Amino acid sequence: MNLQPIAIDDLRIRCHHLWDSRWLLLTAGDLASEQFNLMTVAWGSFGTMWSRPFAQVVVRPTRHTFAFTERYDTFTLCAFPEFCRPVLKLMGTRSGRDLDKIHDSGLTPLPSLAVAAPGFAEAELIVECRKIYWDDIRPANFLAPDLDRNYPDRDYHRIYFGEILAVRGTDDYRTPDGG
Ligand SMILES: Cc1cc2nc3c(=O)[nH]c(=O)nc-3n(C[C@H](O)[C@H](O)[C@H](O)COP(=O)(O)O)c2cc1C
Repeated sequence: MNLQPIAIDDLRIRCHHLWDSRWLLLTAGDLASEQFNLMTVAWGSFGTMWSRPFAQVVVRPTRHTFAFTERYDTFTLCAFPEFCRPVLKLMGTRSGRDLDKIHDSGLTPLPSLAVAAPGFAEAELIVECRKIYWDDIRPANFLAPDLDRNYPDRDYHRIYFGEILAVRGTDDYRTPDGG
Protein backbone atom coordinates (compact mmCIF):
# COMPACT_ATOMS: atom_id res chain seq x y z
CA MET A 1 0.00 0.00 0.00
CA ASN A 2 1.33 3.44 -0.93
CA LEU A 3 1.11 5.30 2.37
CA GLN A 4 2.23 8.89 2.80
CA PRO A 5 2.54 10.92 6.02
CA ILE A 6 -0.60 12.93 6.79
CA ALA A 7 -0.46 16.01 9.01
CA ILE A 8 -2.99 15.72 11.81
CA ASP A 9 -4.84 18.84 10.62
CA ASP A 10 -5.26 17.23 7.18
CA LEU A 11 -6.52 13.87 8.46
CA ARG A 12 -9.97 13.01 7.13
CA ILE A 13 -11.83 10.14 8.80
CA ARG A 14 -15.45 9.05 8.71
CA CYS A 15 -15.16 8.43 12.42
CA HIS A 16 -18.21 6.35 13.38
CA HIS A 17 -18.17 4.50 10.08
CA LEU A 18 -14.50 3.60 10.50
CA TRP A 19 -14.90 2.27 14.04
CA ASP A 20 -18.31 0.68 13.80
CA SER A 21 -18.36 -0.71 10.26
CA ARG A 22 -14.79 -1.01 9.07
CA TRP A 23 -13.04 -1.83 12.36
CA LEU A 24 -9.39 -1.22 13.24
CA LEU A 25 -6.46 -3.34 14.27
CA LEU A 26 -4.91 -2.38 17.60
CA THR A 27 -1.26 -3.38 17.97
CA ALA A 28 0.61 -2.83 21.24
CA GLY A 29 4.19 -3.67 22.09
CA ASP A 30 7.62 -3.39 20.53
CA LEU A 31 8.60 -4.46 17.03
CA ALA A 32 12.37 -4.48 17.68
CA SER A 33 12.11 -7.17 20.34
CA GLU A 34 9.21 -8.91 18.53
CA GLN A 35 7.08 -8.46 21.63
CA PHE A 36 3.72 -7.24 20.40
CA ASN A 37 0.16 -8.42 19.95
CA LEU A 38 -2.72 -7.35 17.77
CA MET A 39 -6.48 -7.51 18.05
CA THR A 40 -9.48 -6.09 16.25
CA VAL A 41 -11.25 -3.15 17.88
CA ALA A 42 -14.53 -1.44 17.01
CA TRP A 43 -15.03 0.77 20.05
CA GLY A 44 -12.94 3.89 20.40
CA SER A 45 -12.54 7.42 19.22
CA PHE A 46 -10.33 10.07 17.68
CA GLY A 47 -10.40 13.58 19.05
CA THR A 48 -8.71 16.38 20.92
CA MET A 49 -7.91 16.40 24.64
CA TRP A 50 -5.52 18.55 26.61
CA SER A 51 -5.05 20.33 23.27
CA ARG A 52 -3.49 17.18 21.84
CA PRO A 53 -4.81 14.91 19.10
CA PHE A 54 -5.64 11.50 20.54
CA ALA A 55 -6.90 8.05 19.74
CA GLN A 56 -8.81 6.35 22.53
CA VAL A 57 -9.19 2.58 22.72
CA VAL A 58 -10.81 0.22 25.22
CA VAL A 59 -9.32 -3.16 26.07
CA ARG A 60 -10.89 -5.80 28.29
CA PRO A 61 -8.43 -7.19 30.88
CA THR A 62 -9.21 -10.66 29.58
CA ARG A 63 -7.51 -9.94 26.22
CA HIS A 64 -3.98 -11.16 25.60
CA THR A 65 -3.37 -7.70 24.13
CA PHE A 66 -4.07 -6.22 27.57
CA ALA A 67 -0.68 -7.41 28.85
CA PHE A 68 0.91 -5.44 26.00
CA THR A 69 -1.13 -2.25 26.40
CA GLU A 70 -0.18 -2.34 30.07
CA ARG A 71 3.51 -3.11 29.65
CA TYR A 72 4.36 -0.94 26.66
CA ASP A 73 4.10 2.79 26.08
CA THR A 74 2.85 2.82 22.51
CA PHE A 75 0.26 1.34 20.22
CA THR A 76 -0.88 1.70 16.64
CA LEU A 77 -4.29 1.62 15.02
CA CYS A 78 -4.50 0.36 11.44
CA ALA A 79 -7.37 0.41 8.96
CA PHE A 80 -7.39 -2.05 6.08
CA PRO A 81 -8.98 -2.38 2.67
CA GLU A 82 -12.27 -4.26 2.63
CA PHE A 83 -10.70 -7.43 1.23
CA CYS A 84 -8.75 -7.78 4.51
CA ARG A 85 -11.95 -8.19 6.54
CA PRO A 86 -11.42 -11.95 7.04
CA VAL A 87 -8.11 -11.11 8.72
CA LEU A 88 -9.85 -8.62 11.02
CA LYS A 89 -12.46 -11.28 11.86
CA LEU A 90 -9.70 -13.75 12.71
CA MET A 91 -7.79 -11.20 14.81
CA GLY A 92 -11.05 -10.38 16.60
CA THR A 93 -12.10 -13.92 17.44
CA ARG A 94 -8.87 -15.75 18.21
CA SER A 95 -6.33 -14.97 20.90
CA GLY A 96 -2.61 -14.50 20.59
CA ARG A 97 -2.40 -16.91 23.51
CA ASP A 98 -3.53 -19.73 21.22
CA LEU A 99 -2.04 -18.93 17.84
CA ASP A 100 0.80 -17.07 16.17
CA LYS A 101 -1.20 -14.05 15.06
CA ILE A 102 1.45 -12.67 12.72
CA HIS A 103 1.85 -16.00 10.95
CA ASP A 104 -1.88 -16.73 10.74
CA SER A 105 -2.87 -13.20 9.72
CA GLY A 106 -0.42 -13.11 6.82
CA LEU A 107 0.19 -9.46 7.71
CA THR A 108 3.62 -7.85 7.32
CA PRO A 109 4.77 -5.80 10.33
CA LEU A 110 6.09 -2.39 9.37
CA PRO A 111 8.33 -0.18 11.53
CA SER A 112 6.54 2.92 12.75
CA LEU A 113 7.84 6.45 12.26
CA ALA A 114 7.55 7.59 15.87
CA VAL A 115 6.70 4.65 18.15
CA ALA A 116 7.95 1.16 19.00
CA ALA A 117 4.70 -0.63 18.15
CA PRO A 118 4.50 -1.64 14.48
CA GLY A 119 1.95 -0.94 11.80
CA PHE A 120 1.34 -3.24 8.84
CA ALA A 121 2.32 -2.97 5.20
CA GLU A 122 -1.19 -4.00 4.08
CA ALA A 123 -2.89 -1.15 5.97
CA GLU A 124 -4.44 1.87 4.28
CA LEU A 125 -4.17 3.98 7.45
CA ILE A 126 -1.68 3.75 10.32
CA VAL A 127 -2.11 5.93 13.40
CA GLU A 128 0.83 5.90 15.85
CA CYS A 129 0.10 6.68 19.49
CA ARG A 130 1.84 7.07 22.83
CA LYS A 131 -0.24 6.40 25.93
CA ILE A 132 -0.93 9.52 27.98
CA TYR A 133 -3.85 8.49 30.19
CA TRP A 134 -5.85 5.47 31.30
CA ASP A 135 -8.92 4.78 33.33
CA ASP A 136 -11.35 1.93 33.84
CA ILE A 137 -15.02 1.74 32.90
CA ARG A 138 -16.96 2.00 36.16
CA PRO A 139 -20.42 0.44 36.13
CA ALA A 140 -21.58 2.82 38.86
CA ASN A 141 -21.11 5.64 36.34
CA PHE A 142 -23.41 4.27 33.63
CA LEU A 143 -26.18 6.81 33.12
CA ALA A 144 -27.78 4.54 30.51
CA PRO A 145 -28.26 1.34 32.58
CA ASP A 146 -28.52 -0.90 29.52
CA LEU A 147 -24.82 -0.31 28.83
CA ASP A 148 -24.03 -2.75 31.61
CA ARG A 149 -25.42 -5.52 29.37
CA ASN A 150 -22.15 -5.32 27.47
CA TYR A 151 -20.44 -6.82 30.52
CA PRO A 152 -22.10 -10.13 31.52
CA ASP A 153 -18.69 -11.27 32.82
CA ARG A 154 -18.04 -7.93 34.50
CA ASP A 155 -14.78 -7.59 32.54
CA TYR A 156 -14.98 -3.83 32.28
CA HIS A 157 -12.70 -2.26 29.71
CA ARG A 158 -9.60 -0.32 30.49
CA ILE A 159 -9.59 2.95 28.54
CA TYR A 160 -6.36 4.26 27.04
CA PHE A 161 -5.82 7.68 25.55
CA GLY A 162 -2.88 7.73 23.15
CA GLU A 163 -1.48 10.98 21.82
CA ILE A 164 -1.27 10.72 18.05
CA LEU A 165 2.38 11.19 17.06
CA ALA A 166 2.29 10.22 13.39
CA VAL A 167 -0.22 9.25 10.73
CA ARG A 168 0.33 7.59 7.37
CA GLY A 169 -2.43 6.85 4.94
CA THR A 170 -3.66 6.69 1.40
CA ASP A 171 -4.98 9.84 -0.24
CA ASP A 172 -8.51 8.88 0.83
CA TYR A 173 -7.55 9.87 4.38
CA ARG A 174 -6.23 13.29 3.41
CA THR A 175 -8.38 16.40 3.24
CA PRO A 176 -8.20 17.74 -0.30
CA ASP A 177 -6.35 21.04 -0.71
CA GLY A 178 -8.46 23.84 0.65
CA GLY A 179 -10.82 21.38 2.36
C1 LIG B 1 -15.46 -6.35 15.27
C2 LIG B 1 -14.79 -6.60 16.61
C3 LIG B 1 -14.53 -5.55 17.45
C4 LIG B 1 -13.91 -5.73 18.69
N1 LIG B 1 -13.66 -4.66 19.50
C5 LIG B 1 -13.05 -4.84 20.69
C6 LIG B 1 -12.73 -3.72 21.54
O1 LIG B 1 -12.94 -2.54 21.17
N2 LIG B 1 -12.16 -3.98 22.73
C7 LIG B 1 -11.88 -5.26 23.17
O2 LIG B 1 -11.38 -5.44 24.29
N3 LIG B 1 -12.16 -6.34 22.38
C8 LIG B 1 -12.70 -6.15 21.16
N4 LIG B 1 -12.95 -7.22 20.35
C9 LIG B 1 -12.58 -8.57 20.78
C10 LIG B 1 -11.10 -8.91 20.54
O3 LIG B 1 -10.64 -8.45 19.28
C11 LIG B 1 -10.92 -10.44 20.62
O4 LIG B 1 -11.32 -10.89 21.91
C12 LIG B 1 -9.53 -10.90 20.28
O5 LIG B 1 -9.58 -12.28 20.03
C13 LIG B 1 -8.53 -10.63 21.39
O6 LIG B 1 -7.29 -11.14 21.00
P1 LIG B 1 -6.08 -11.31 22.03
O7 LIG B 1 -6.55 -12.27 23.10
O8 LIG B 1 -4.96 -11.85 21.19
O9 LIG B 1 -5.80 -9.96 22.59
C14 LIG B 1 -13.55 -7.04 19.10
C15 LIG B 1 -13.81 -8.13 18.23
C16 LIG B 1 -14.42 -7.90 16.99
C17 LIG B 1 -14.66 -9.08 16.07
